[in-house]
Amino acid sequence: MKDNILSNLKQYGQEHLFTFWDLLSGLEQHELIDQIQSIDFALIAHLYEQRNAPAESLTIADRASDPPAYKFSTVTDPTPCKPRKSVSVQEAVLAGDEMLSRGKVGAILVAGGQGTRLGFPHPKGMYPIGPVSEATLFQFHFEKILALSQRYGSQIPYCIMTSPATHRETVDFLEQKNYFGLQRDHVFIFCQGTMPAVSLETGKILLDSKNRIALSPDGHGGMLAAITRKNENGMSVLDSLRQRGIEYLFYNQVDNPLVRICSPEFLGYHLLSGSELTSQVIRKRFPTDKVGNIVEADGRLYVIEYSDLPDEVARQTNSDGSLKIWAGSIAVHLFNAALLDRTSKITTSLPFHIARKKVPFIDLQTGERMKPDKENAIKFERFIFDLLPSAENAVVVEVDPPNHYAPLKNASGSSSDSPETVKRDLVAMYADWLRKAGAVVVAETPVEISPLFADSPETVLQKIEKNTAFNKPTYLKNSTRHVE
Ligand code: UTP
Repeated sequence: MKDNILSNLKQYGQEHLFTFWDLLSGLEQHELIDQIQSIDFALIAHLYEQRNAPAESLTIADRASDPPAYKFSTVTDPTPCKPRKSVSVQEAVLAGDEMLSRGKVGAILVAGGQGTRLGFPHPKGMYPIGPVSEATLFQFHFEKILALSQRYGSQIPYCIMTSPATHRETVDFLEQKNYFGLQRDHVFIFCQGTMPAVSLETGKILLDSKNRIALSPDGHGGMLAAITRKNENGMSVLDSLRQRGIEYLFYNQVDNPLVRICSPEFLGYHLLSGSELTSQVIRKRFPTDKVGNIVEADGRLYVIEYSDLPDEVARQTNSDGSLKIWAGSIAVHLFNAALLDRTSKITTSLPFHIARKKVPFIDLQTGERMKPDKENAIKFERFIFDLLPSAENAVVVEVDPPNHYAPLKNASGSSSDSPETVKRDLVAMYADWLRKAGAVVVAETPVEISPLFADSPETVLQKIEKNTAFNKPTYLKNSTRHVE
């Protein structure tokens, strides 16, 4: 068997993967063979060859215009949006309420990333982000699903995508926490695929140890393959969801505790505009803001990464002075299940992107593990937003960061997207909800609201007496008020 594999590796110049073969135990040899057999060497060779090809989105930038958009009701910026079809807030909320009560909506949380910037030694979902409660990111998301399931009287199936980097610990953690009150048979946990890292200079696949290839998760776009992968009974997770009557899948990433999961208003814009894929966006603060730009070109929506958007295109303005390319993606989407099904059958639906990274590797001469101090490797990743051009009638919904977006990306002490900034933004949002309900929140007082108590300003209003004072750290959970 080894000889057959070796001759295949030679064809692609990857025979160095067997450098340490004679030093490995039988078990280690097995592990190495398993990994080698999971790799599509022709694909890796092709991707490496194409590494300097200009990004496809560059050709779109020239004819890009602003996408059809709705404004979420919490947005105060007055710049008008052009919707695909006029839909009022009330109509959207009613339609979304109905989708939820009829049990048509499922949710997926992608939690397979390695969280390298944060530097937390566990899956990012286990990070204690609650400013008062120290609730983990997972708890925030699970409680939102539980609150919705209780409100609408129908269980929302919850899919959690992990990767080999996060799977075991995530499964153990969720099990230990009893899925934060969700019923086990409504939670689907599945692992995404991996791709090998190759040397930037030579295209050779890197070894992470003498018997292990340097593999990393294949990007959040790996969700498409993972959710449609058939099990031994010929059923994928998506098949199981559709069998339960799910037609729409809400998608968010584990790092943003402000996300309003399955907000009826957002669902309603999607349904009533006849969209197959709807994405939340924020208004860019300046032309070169570092976000993925959602644009329309030839009647389809695309994401142009900030690094691929030429400056002169980024600076174009409308007659009222507003930016033409204004919509920055925050990685919150709603997919029609039928779109996922259809595009999963087309191998080119999601192209691989190339990221130049520092990846530790085994020196083939000395057998030593090296930690590079500059970029030495290419990682290949798929991005889920690349499904946009395949979707019919795709639209975006503008949301405001204070009510929707504060991602945890960077380590403590960083000036943005750090534990401190996320906690600050959470407290500011909860204090605002309480004040809108007539409560008095003394400045600088940390307040936090569990989604089981209230998950929007409207639900806070029903639970809080006017003039209730908050002057010490407070965590509102269930129907009772805990003062610490
Ligand atoms: P990021 O690209 O921000 O990566 O992922 P990350 O892992 O959180 O952090 P860095 O870049 O290593 O510092 C955004 C979201 O996509 C998920 C992450 O878990 C996060 O929710 N993701 C990313 C996956 O599920 N799989 C991947 O392969 C990559």
